[in-house]
Amino acid sequence: MIRLRTATLADLPLILHWDEQPHVQDVGGDPEWNDWNWDEELGREVAWREFLIAELDGRPIGFVQLIDCREEESHYWGNDCPEHSWAIDIWIGEGDELGKGHGTAMMRLAIDRCFARPFCEHILIDPMADNVRAQRFYGSLGFKLLGPRRFGPDDCLVYQLTRAGWRNGDQNA
Ligand SMILES: CC(C)(COP(=O)(O)OP(=O)(O)OC[C@H]1O[C@@H](n2cnc3c(N)ncnc32)[C@H](O)[C@@H]1OP(=O)(O)O)[C@@H](O)C(=O)NCCC(=O)NCCS
Repeated sequence: MIRLRTATLADLPLILHWDEQPHVQDVGGDPEWNDWNWDEELGREVAWREFLIAELDGRPIGFVQLIDCREEESHYWGNDCPEHSWAIDIWIGEGDELGKGHGTAMMRLAIDRCFARPFCEHILIDPMADNVRAQRFYGSLGFKLLGPRRFGPDDCLVYQLTRAGWRNGDQNA
């Protein structure tokens, strides 16, 4: 069984280890632009973000970040993004845990967690333009392509899932 729990500073060594894995490095974009500054950020609680560890039967297997796009302090998503949009970042830690359905289970929990916020109407994600596997993965969950977008040096594709789309089960369409 998969569950999501809040990440803490005690997870730092594991998160840094996962960061080194080729399947994580390959899709992370420009490392300077995407410096997560884990040492400082992991222990910092803010209203606009959740850092979550996914556990499979109590064993950590992956990471999920949820952010409020408008409130996030670096304004990564731009000042003009719609209010109450949340964004999700997700990765499985170890290469041998890929393709077993864990990402789908994690993403379903993450989506439910976003839409549990009464005002959240949209969820955005921004896979790298060449991360075809992740794009197919998001498509299978019902995300719709909004279009290409450049974030700093990174060419990405932006996808959106609406509350109505999730409720209507567009992923089965
Ligand atoms: C993207 C990511 C989170 C998806 O997680 P995942 O656990 O690999 O994905 P799933 O196993 O749920 O689904 C992927 C594939 O496995 C298949 N699958 C689903 N359940 C399965 C199961 N029980 N057993 C075997 N395969 C299964 C899915 O049909 C899907 O097939 P497809 O790739 O042919 O479409 C993961 O691949 C990952 O961490 N990638 C590297 C980091 C990354 O790209 N993150 C996203 C950045 S935007």
